[in-house]
Amino acid sequence: KLRSVVLGCGHFLPEQTVTNDDLARKVDTSNEWIVERTGIRERRIATPEETTSVLATRAARAALADAGVDASTIDLIIVATATPDFTFPATATQVQSALGITQGAAFDLQAVCSGFVFALTTADKFLASGSHKRALVIGAETFSRILDWQDRTTCVLFGDGAGAVVLEAQEGEGTIADRGVLTTHLRSDGRHVDKLYVDGGPSTTGTAGHLRMEGKEVFRYAVNFLAEVIEAAFQATGLQASDIDWFVPHQANRRIIEATARKLSINPAKVVVTVGEHGNTSAASIPLALSVARQDGRIKRGQLVLIEAMGGGFTWGSALIRW
Ligand code: ACO
Repeated sequence: KLRSVVLGCGHFLPEQTVTNDDLARKVDTSNEWIVERTGIRERRIATPEETTSVLATRAARAALADAGVDASTIDLIIVATATPDFTFPATATQVQSALGITQGAAFDLQAVCSGFVFALTTADKFLASGSHKRALVIGAETFSRILDWQDRTTCVLFGDGAGAVVLEAQEGEGTIADRGVLTTHLRSDGRHVDKLYVDGGPSTTGTAGHLRMEGKEVFRYAVNFLAEVIEAAFQATGLQASDIDWFVPHQANRRIIEATARKLSINPAKVVVTVGEHGNTSAASIPLALSVARQDGRIKRGQLVLIEAMGGGFTWGSALIRW
């Protein structure tokens, strides 16, 4: 049975750091409010030259180096992003070209903050079918470009960045002891568009638009939706919370992360939290957090990693990976 094994991961963050105090000079907010409600202390903001494809390419190069594989061996690139360089072509084709790859397929995937879980799931199915051998799965965003910088209820929450993993199709025994993606679970419910959306687009306003969010409403749904989709992963594998080595959730808000971990009885010591330094980087947040936890030695080969995310749509999902 073919499994999608993680060969390596990497990330890239813009250099420019914006602290809560920096934001408090622009809108009516404070470091105390932002830290208490979200856990965010600072975020990175891309320069105009640092487009999503630039961030994605830098993260991809780091992941390829970590994996020790040459770009020319990649035959599938999926970029999860809600902030592409252009309406078309896909950011993934820009990354493909920047990496000098001329074979295989490259395309974008749009599931906002759940984008990385959706992209990983999609790549896993390509690899498990035998149609493709080696995939780059990238989450990359420049949310700073779609924020309303006058709106204190949203502009303090997000940041820019990118993360990537290299996956390879390898033969396994078909058991939970195998390395690789063990199970994936995706959900969508389009009735919730009004709670989290961007008020522009090529087919409506002809502008990029700005992010709009009913934060309290999103929060209300998030924990229950995430708990259900994580339970689905446990049920599919027979694993339970105590088997998990690392819980690497989408980094939207420390309170959502802690409430989800508590509801599922996941030991807080096993939770990777990067939202304090990165803010919510949407589709980039999970691969960013994976890469940080891999680089600092927390995630080790053979360990069991649980990822989950929820975002606009709503979309949400989970995956269990034996690293
Ligand atoms: N600074 C100071 N005060 C603020 C700010 C701010 N940046 N933003 C809002 N306030 C004020 C509000 O105006 C309100 O004032 P009022 O009582 O006078 O009307 C007060 O603070 C409380 O506002 P609430 O919105 O009720 O605050 P809440 O405790 O719900 O926290 C937050 C807001 C942090 C957005 C919270 O609802 C939340 O985390 N929601 C989840 C949102 C999220 O994480 N979304 C992303 C998930 S999906 C994805 O990743 C795309």
